[in-house]
Amino acid sequence: MSSMWATLQRAACGAGLNQRRDFFSWLTQWFSKAPAKAVVAQKTPIKVELVAGTMYRWCVCGRSKKQPFCDGSHFFQRTGLVPLKFKAQETRTAVLCTCKATQRPPYCDGTHKSERVQKAEVGSPL
Ligand code: FES
Repeated sequence: MSSMWATLQRAACGAGLNQRRDFFSWLTQWFSKAPAKAVVAQKTPIKVELVAGTMYRWCVCGRSKKQPFCDGSHFFQRTGLVPLKFKAQETRTAVLCTCKATQRPPYCDGTHKSERVQKAEVGSPL
């Protein structure tokens, strides 16, 4: 996020003062500098069939309605978070995290069984 911010700042340097001000006020409105916290989407993982060579976008923010994958909610809700892109190396069934607390994203590592996740409300940050 910070490198994107720096790139956009550099791009705006060529514009006039008023254009720059408008550009930065627009940017500030759409992108907060501090990303939002991920929220618990569900408290159990989801089994999915991954196809070798296919790119997937795993939801990092927890706000997607197409768990465990991204539906663009991170952008429309201005979270400052981005999905995790990964390419399946082989065709297989995988268990993907939906609690967003795994230490092995996008895969479930069992963290959802912890008291911290089980006591959290769905839709709330941990
Ligand atoms: S669903 Fe998140 S660690 Fe299992």
